Amino acid sequence: MLGQSDYWDLSGIQELSRLEEKVQNCSRCGLRGGCRGVVFGEGNPAARIVICGEGPGADEDRLGRPFVGKAGQLLDRILEVCGFGRFDHVYILNTVKCRPPGNRAPSGEERAACRPNLDAQIRIISPVIMVLLGATALQEVIDPGGRITRDRGSWLERDGIWVMPTYHPAALLRNPSLKADAWKDFKQVVYRYRELVDPGHYSAYC
Ligand code: URA
Ligand code: URA
Repeated sequence: MLGQSDYWDLSGIQELSRLEEKVQNCSRCGLRGGCRGVVFGEGNPAARIVICGEGPGADEDRLGRPFVGKAGQLLDRILEVCGFGRFDHVYILNTVKCRPPGNRAPSGEERAACRPNLDAQIRIISPVIMVLLGATALQEVIDPGGRITRDRGSWLERDGIWVMPTYHPAALLRNPSLKADAWKDFKQVVYRYRELVDPGHYSAYC
């Protein structure tokens, strides 16, 4: 009999709610055994922007929602300044859906195990723009050799999606001098959103 690690076909799933039911039962890597639950992601399933972080932390694991701790509060402020609402313009998710113990970065093996879940989310949402928060998201979505300090701030492309890598908000909390560059990156996202999605998109700041 095939285990989950061998057989995990999500290709027939066309709705995010059905995908979430399936992923809630995922145990393709060891992370599920060490966390409270799967943090699938949240936002508007019809959003044109996907925001991808690394993986759930303690707060996210406890509440079952992405980016609800200190880094998440900063992300919410950044989105607000851009005129983006968490449940309106964006869908927020992570490279892995289960919290790595002690908040370590997910291993390549864990990310590979969760990759079909991420790919199915992206396929179903089919965003126009993706924002990658930090090195793990950059390395998983675009380039295993990606470096955020080198690659942030320039548009990349994946499957026709405009991809902007930028600093993880946790990095901005550790090092506030990075915020100026992060703001440049998010401004580019706002400008591209106006160009490709909604010319009338309002932000009080740019
Ligand atoms: N950091 C992440 O990368 N993702 C979260 O959901 C929370 C913090
Ligand atoms: N290094 C990272 O891994 N992420 C950041 O966002 C910044 C530096």
